[in-house]
Amino acid sequence: MKYEFMKRTIEVASKGSGFVNPKPLYGAVLVKDNNIIGEGYFDGTKAEVAEIKAIKNSTENTQGASLYLNMEASLGNEDISVILKNGIKNIYFGILDPVLKGKTVNLLREKGIQVETGLLRDECEELNEIYIHYIKNGIPFVFTKWAMTLDGKLATRTGDSKWISNEDSLKFVHKLRQRVAAILVGENTVKLDNPMLNTRLDCPKISNPLRVIISKYGDIPNDSNVLKVDDNTKTLIIASTNIAKERENYFLHKKVNVMKLEEKSGYIDFKDIVKALGKIGIDSLYIEGGGAILGSAFDSGIVNKVYAVVAPKIIGGKGAVTPVGGKGIEKMRDALVLKKVTHEIVGSDVIFKGYLY
Ligand SMILES: NC(=O)c1ccc[n+]([C@@H]2O[C@H](COP(=O)([O-])OP(=O)(O)OC[C@H]3O[C@@H](n4cnc5c(N)ncnc54)[C@H](OP(=O)(O)O)[C@@H]3O)[C@@H](O)[C@H]2O)c1
Repeated sequence: MKYEFMKRTIEVASKGSGFVNPKPLYGAVLVKDNNIIGEGYFDGTKAEVAEIKAIKNSTENTQGASLYLNMEASLGNEDISVILKNGIKNIYFGILDPVLKGKTVNLLREKGIQVETGLLRDECEELNEIYIHYIKNGIPFVFTKWAMTLDGKLATRTGDSKWISNEDSLKFVHKLRQRVAAILVGENTVKLDNPMLNTRLDCPKISNPLRVIISKYGDIPNDSNVLKVDDNTKTLIIASTNIAKERENYFLHKKVNVMKLEEKSGYIDFKDIVKALGKIGIDSLYIEGGGAILGSAFDSGIVNKVYAVVAPKIIGGKGAVTPVGGKGIEKMRDALVLKKVTHEIVGSDVIFKGYLY
């Protein structure tokens, strides 16, 4: 049952998805006599911590109950005394916080609470992989996702890519958009697809990622959807330091921010991009394409996690763009090999997931 309760804790913590960055997702589940009697999660606001919410929401007397938390949290004396007063005897943690490194766990043990750590460690680590990576490295955790046909194409030879994947795979994309702080595409994708790059999910609260466009000289149409910004849908153009002043001013006038970075051999180095984004608090970056941008990102070695949606369609075309362009490698022995590979079948599509670095 312990594992079932921690699984539920992860689900509860996920409710904060999109609202906590750059902080972690926290969930708390209170259990008595093998029944869940209270739940709480961190929603990004300064309200009570998840465990106190779970205690306050409990439907029964909490004496002798156990608390499940996906990650060690920073608990003050006041929080600990609420836990003690409510007779919580055991606390199960999924993982330790990389900053606290067991400080809260030791404090709780000193107060006589039984603590067990490491329950569903891998799942809890994946839930907060963004936070863990950002805290350790100061740069965003980078996801890539593409949808390709069975013959390995991102779009037809004319650049049409709507739609390669099925509707359920598209929902998965929007869940990822909800989770991350920023989404990035290249200039050609803006020109050919005119994407909105917002989150479209059937849920009560939506969070749109910052839309990041790589466009060295700002060569995108003035009526592009990504240039329509409001309080909840913002855009940042990553441009060369050589962008024309008038073009930069045009974007600024439209309330679109511009980040200027040095060109290196005609490109903006992805290593510089992630460093600069990390400095402005972006903890996670989802690179959606197209092929040239994805290729450049892989060439720079900044990609952490790959999602590839494969749809059972064949479109052919020698010139049709493939998922990863860029320089690539010469020898198979140098291929990037994904780790912890899993796959999920979504209708007739298959979604591969794996890690690099
Ligand atoms: N199926 C999917 O999941 C999916 C997702 C997104 C897009 N797409 C499709 O992909 C197609 C567009 O792909 P694409 O490869 O043509 O275009 P793209 O990747 O959107 O943009 C390419 C442009 O970005 C430039 N660029 C690449 N890396 C750069 C860097 N590090 N710094 C500065 N500039 C950089 C390229 O320059 P160079 O030309 O000099 O290399 C080129 O001008 C569209 O047809 C779209 O529909 C499909």
